[in-house]
This record gives sequence, structure tokens and C-alpha cells, in this order.
Amino acid sequence: MTDTQFQALRGRRALVTGGAGFIGSHLATALVAHGCRVRVLDSLVGGYRDNVPDGAEFVHASILDDASLRRAMTGCDYVFHQAAMVSVPESVDKPEECMRVNVLGTAKVLEAARDLHVGRVLFAASAAAYGNTPSLPSKETDLPDSWSPYAMSKVAGELLLQTFARCYGMSTVSLRYFNIYGPRQDPNSPYAAVISAFSRRLLAGTMPTVLGDGQQTRDFTFIDNVVRANLLAATSPRPLAGEVINIGTGRRSSLLDVLGAMGKALGIAVNPGFAPPRAGDVRHSCAEISRAKELLGYEPVVHLQEGLARTLEWAKVAWAPASAR
Ligand SMILES: NC(=O)c1ccc[n+]([C@@H]2O[C@H](COP(=O)([O-])OP(=O)(O)OC[C@H]3O[C@@H](n4cnc5c(N)ncnc54)[C@H](O)[C@@H]3O)[C@@H](O)[C@H]2O)c1
Repeated sequence: MTDTQFQALRGRRALVTGGAGFIGSHLATALVAHGCRVRVLDSLVGGYRDNVPDGAEFVHASILDDASLRRAMTGCDYVFHQAAMVSVPESVDKPEECMRVNVLGTAKVLEAARDLHVGRVLFAASAAAYGNTPSLPSKETDLPDSWSPYAMSKVAGELLLQTFARCYGMSTVSLRYFNIYGPRQDPNSPYAAVISAFSRRLLAGTMPTVLGDGQQTRDFTFIDNVVRANLLAATSPRPLAGEVINIGTGRRSSLLDVLGAMGKALGIAVNPGFAPPRAGDVRHSCAEISRAKELLGYEPVVHLQEGLARTLEWAKVAWAPASAR
């Protein structure tokens, strides 16, 4: 990323909540690389201390801990709010806890940002907001369609960002991420995302199991694209006051397409097993990205085959037994 727009980050201070997790740690790494002074606040319920890049300050705390949150946010120009309960099934098991972390936690982040005069707050929103909306690709003007406490909490987060922009004149923006994948995504969680789970199986020499017929589609988006979208939104000269913006590739691929592309990258034939579909999973998902293009100048820079190849190359090294490294 050599864009001149990103030079605005040099010497500025940023807080990344959830910065020990998958997306937050890539964001923290990119911010450090652009000369930003970065703090990461993470409770480590899902992330790993080792993910935090050298050069970033680490605060081990929850966003629900007001004193730690405010200390970490002091002096910040930007807050990239990525911390959340991230799993749909976990949110179905624990709806109250989901609301506490994802809704109350987001309100705390915003209130601290208001009091500390943060320049811009960016929120990790989710394509889960679209649920089973009938038309594809999904547009930001479609009505939300919540099928889980997680989806509801992410829509509530967007409304909080919009409300804080209107009530307090803050600059806020919600980026609705569509199925992000890439290095460092955790395959060990019981709620592992599909590409990291498939990678784990294929690299262990076993065939993955597809839930359903494999024809369900998603807008799989490589991590570099979402990092770029965040940096564009942070440095955008537009005022940005609560806008909701889809971040995806604008293309959809089926799970069988993904497995085919992974097989190609590894030079193997992939013959998956099949099991019944997971209740509540949407059938198709794809982002309309014209608003991101228009407001942020965003274009996806890494497409599926390259993104999968890069993910697998990373996983071969990261997941190899220590003796083989
Ligand atoms: N990965 C995706 O495809 C995707 C899609 C849409 C939205 N999102 C959103 O992007 C954000 C990052 O997701 P991810 O995939 O990197 O997940 P992740 O689990 O790797 O990262 C989330 C991080 O938040 C931390 N965290 C959780 N609760 C916390 C709390 N109370 N206080 C402080 N830290 C806390 C975890 O320890 C973890 O490091 C989340 O808000 C998620 O909802 C992700």
C-alpha cells in the first residue's frame, strides 16, 4: 500500500480494539507500517498476544472495563473497533452476553471516544445484517434481516455509530465485512470460519466435510482488502457521519468453488464429504460494493485464487509441527 492518502497516518495515534484477533492484528500491523502509533486493547478471549505486531502497545483488558478503555484511548486520532463476540452460534447460546459485549461494549467505545475527542471511530459491522434478504447483491439500503443475536447486535452497533454522529457531531463509519479470510484466522475455534477449517483439514491430509450441498455461495474477501478499506475510511477527506458501507469483492463463490481453488493451489484433487446443512445458515451472500467505490475509492485488490494460495502458504508454515519448521 503506497497510496499517498495513507501518509496522513504517519505520527497519528490509533486504538485497535480486538487487535490480537484475526482482522484487528492485520489492521494493527498495517497501521504500524504506515507510521501510526498503535495501541491494541484485547481481552484475549479469542485472540492471541503473539498476533500483536512489534511496535504496537498492548493493553490486556476488556472494552467493558471503562478505566482501561479510556486509558488506552487517550490521545487517539482513530479508533478501529473490532472487538466483539464474533460467533453466530455462540451468540445464539448466550444472547445476553452477546448484547453486553457487542452493543453495550460499542456504546462504551463511542462514549469514551466522544469524551476524549477521537477524530474518527470505525466499526467492524457484518454482512450478517442482511440475513436472507431476497435480492442479491446486497445493498446498504436493503432492510436488515436478523437471524441471530449476533446479527442484531451488529445492526445495533451501526445504529449507535449513526446516533453518536448525529447527537454529538462525531465522525463515525461502519464497514460491513463479508466473509473475511486469510492468514492468522483461527482454525481451532469450535466456530472456525469455513476457509480456515478447510485449510486445516487439507493440510493435515484429510478431506473436509461440507455442510449442505456445497452450492451455497459467499462473497469471500481476502484480509488485505478489508485492511485497505479501513485505511481508506480512516484517511478519507469526507466527513463520514455514521455511513454504513459494504466491504466485499462483489463476487460470490460456492463452497465447492473454494475447494476447487484450494485443490488447484495445493496441486491435489479435493473430494469432500457432505453432512446436513447447519440450521440458520443463509444460502447466498454477496456485496454490492458501489458505495465503497464511490465514498472511499475502494476496490478489492486481491481476488479468490491468489487469496487462497496466500492463506495456504501461510498455514503450511504456521501450522507445521515445530520439528518441521
Ligand atoms: N471474520 C469475518 O469474516 C467477519 C465478518 C464480519 C464482521 N466481522 C467482525 O470483525 C471483527 C473482528 O473479527 P475477527 O474475525 O478478527 O475475529 P477474532 O475473534 O479473531 O477477533 C476478535 C477479537 O476481539 C477480542 N475480544 C472479544 N471480546 C472482547 C472484549 N470484551 N474486550 C476486548 N477484546 C475482546 C478477542 O479476544 C479477539 O482478539 C468482529 O467485530 C467481527 O464481528 C468479522
